[in-house]
Amino acid sequence: MLELENLSYYYQSQKDRLVLDGVSYRFDKGNLYAVLGASGCGKTTLLSLMAGLDVPVSGRILVDGEALGRNGLNRHRRENVSLIFQNYNLIDYLTPVENVKLGGKADARALLAQMGIDEAQQRRNVLQLSGGQQQRVAIARALAGRTPILLADEPTGNLDEDTAEEITAVFRELAHRWEKCVVVVTHSRELAEQADVVLRLRGGKLREEKRKEESGVWTEAVPGSGAGDSAE
Ligand SMILES: Nc1ncnc2c1ncn2[C@@H]1O[C@H](COP(=O)(O)OP(=O)(O)OP(=O)(O)O)[C@@H](O)[C@H]1O
Ligand SMILES: [Mg+2]
Repeated sequence: MLELENLSYYYQSQKDRLVLDGVSYRFDKGNLYAVLGASGCGKTTLLSLMAGLDVPVSGRILVDGEALGRNGLNRHRRENVSLIFQNYNLIDYLTPVENVKLGGKADARALLAQMGIDEAQQRRNVLQLSGGQQQRVAIARALAGRTPILLADEPTGNLDEDTAEEITAVFRELAHRWEKCVVVVTHSRELAEQADVVLRLRGGKLREEKRKEESGVWTEAVPGSGAGDSAE
């Protein structure tokens, strides 16, 4: 689905610090991925490259086997990926329905209902919703774009534990029932426990830490094995 091929990246203002150092990994649809890593290790940077908001210094990103070029970034952002943020990024003078309509042409009310926002809530100003409800609206907006890939940057960072669990369950359903490729950057161990694959970004390298087998049992990556190429 979305493949990173030897991605390296540094910020122009800090050329001596490689934030990503030859990252290779393939993300598939139908899976929920959790990306863990210390603050400042480059998680948001990685997501912005995957979202086509920035371009790598070297390496390539492929979508369904086709490399993204600079010219294809607009189309990538429109057709392939949707973003979900920690602070929801909703337009605060609009209703949930109006916000979701900004995401695409899909049936906003139906999507909101599927995300658990009832009709009365749909008509309110978004600021009159709880944090968890606002995040559901933001997820509905992401779904309105009908993209196969959802990228979320600390989507439960502002939520209490129970609400974070509900939102995590929504992401699982989007991966497993809606067949989306869902990549979530998180500091939450609880969210990571619910993911299908746990990845860790450290020292500019992305490594698969563990993977849940069909039986629901976690298999730990073998230390020292290459990132993402361990045996199935
Ligand atoms: N625009 C920028 N210019 C220069 N350096 C930057 C810029 N944005 C981020 N950085 C630096 O790049 C590194 C990676 O930042 P990034 O935001 O990707 O980390 P992160 O893993 O998302 O951290 P957090 O968990 O705190 O959100 C950090 O050292 C950060 O200071
Ligand atoms: Mg970040």
